[in-house]
Amino acid sequence: MKTFIRAVVAVAGFSACLALQAQVKDHPVPSIVQKDGRFALMVDGAPYLTLGAQANNSSDWQATLPKVWPAIEYLHANTLEIPVYWEQFEPKPGQFDYSAVDTILAQAREHHVHLVLLWFGTWKNGSQHYMPEWMKLEPERYAHVMNKNGELVDSPSPFAKASLDADVHAFTAFMRHLKEADAEKTVLMVQVENETGTWGTLRDYSPSAERIFEAPVPAEVLKAMNVTPAGGAANWQDAFGAEADVYFHAWAIARYVGQIAAAGKAVYPLPLYVNAALRDPIKPEQPGTYESGGPTDNVIPIWKAEAPAIDVLAPDIYLLDTPTYMKVMELYHRPDNALFIPETAGTPHAARFLFAALGMQAIGYSPFGLDYSRAHPAHPGDSDAPNAFLDPTAQNYRLIGPMMRDVAHLNYEGKLQAVAEVEGEPDQTLHFGVWDAVVSYGVGGRGGPAKGNPEPAGRALVAQLKDNQFLITGVDCRVDFRPAGTEQQRMAQPVVIGVGQTPSAQIDGKWQHRQFLRVEEGAYENGVFKFQRILNGDQTDWGLIFGSEPEVLRVSVATY
Ligand code: DGJ
Repeated sequence: MKTFIRAVVAVAGFSACLALQAQVKDHPVPSIVQKDGRFALMVDGAPYLTLGAQANNSSDWQATLPKVWPAIEYLHANTLEIPVYWEQFEPKPGQFDYSAVDTILAQAREHHVHLVLLWFGTWKNGSQHYMPEWMKLEPERYAHVMNKNGELVDSPSPFAKASLDADVHAFTAFMRHLKEADAEKTVLMVQVENETGTWGTLRDYSPSAERIFEAPVPAEVLKAMNVTPAGGAANWQDAFGAEADVYFHAWAIARYVGQIAAAGKAVYPLPLYVNAALRDPIKPEQPGTYESGGPTDNVIPIWKAEAPAIDVLAPDIYLLDTPTYMKVMELYHRPDNALFIPETAGTPHAARFLFAALGMQAIGYSPFGLDYSRAHPAHPGDSDAPNAFLDPTAQNYRLIGPMMRDVAHLNYEGKLQAVAEVEGEPDQTLHFGVWDAVVSYGVGGRGGPAKGNPEPAGRALVAQLKDNQFLITGVDCRVDFRPAGTEQQRMAQPVVIGVGQTPSAQIDGKWQHRQFLRVEEGAYENGVFKFQRILNGDQTDWGLIFGSEPEVLRVSVATY
């Protein structure tokens, strides 16, 4: 009998093991892939778009999570970005407490939501506030940055070997645990540190840092910054002049974070990123007016050279005027860097930038502070409209969420374009081979001229499914198609909408007019577009109008 029971147990154990293997096989480790300068975050073998929300800083506690999940549900977010606190994770040196990680994994699965975990380690907004108490109590060993006056600053020194070793040890333990505890691949990416850098001083001026500053700049930094000093070598000051302190600090921090990332990746190769507190990219500020040493746009090449285990340098975009927002995205969408926006504002004004980000092949987007703990920042007027701070993001995610896989796939294939309204530009033209899609804002009910919306809230997404077939969605805009002519022909023939006046272009001396063959309204179910009805007559004679309700169209066009 005993032998029989042992055999049954052995078979059961073997099957469980096979089931686990199958599960692991079914869920490959997420990865970031690149094709022709476009990126995709691969999740379960296909491009994925994180429509995220970042929790408030102190929300990842048993007591607070009940205030997080209802917000995530309300938003229809598919990903929660939430911190893991070093101080909680390693309360005593070398003793790791996995309970918070296990709790968030379990709760995310219950809610069918993915996670991006933020390792609040050595740096948090330039400070070392998340170091465990036992480190904070030994400031000589876990050193702070020293300013020019010899005073210690509220920021960790990137030259503190003991801090680096401790962070490598803790981060590796965290990644190892994730690998063991997350066969389902609930966690898609990990952020290493948070807004690294230093406020209040440009770099570490401690005697040991000074010696390194006086030494020759490492060759890879010169190469990255495209600088060839006379004689082949120079110290930091001679090589970089006014920018020397910032570049030096960026180099030191990137090296430090690069080692942590490499150690973590060696045990579990999840995509890793660092987030950047930005400097103004349009009116670049003087060193000292922005956080020094983090992956700001001026030091991206240094970070790339020193921290190759970091997959993505990701901008936290709180600079909300339109040209600045666009410029930031342009700077971080590079052949060697996918655009991923881990933090931004969830305000009505900013909501449309999700579409602009998709237009730059963003792999993920996440407004900050979207949970009901509301510790920070304060939201005036909350009591009247408790969800007002969620609504702009919820509107986006209700629309894009169901079609997220198609959006990520079409974007990776280079078939998708998306735009946000720009103040003073009532029309935007997207080129798709023989067709131009013309997006207009503030058009009124029946084909009035585009004036722009009273607030620039419009946004549109157009993807080419076949030569003459498009998938379209948007908010507060009109989309129409016009046969693509040359720039001159387009200029000569602005879009006119209305019965008897179709968008046209004169091509090779012959007029070509757009006609709708079939305008299908549908809804995404289980990731697939399901036809609901054909729109025609008043619903199409003045172009395809999108208001504030989610609407997705599949449109076939032809010319006559
Ligand atoms: C940027 C940081 O990365 C976040 O953790 C948070 O502090 C926000 N700023 C603002 O509250």
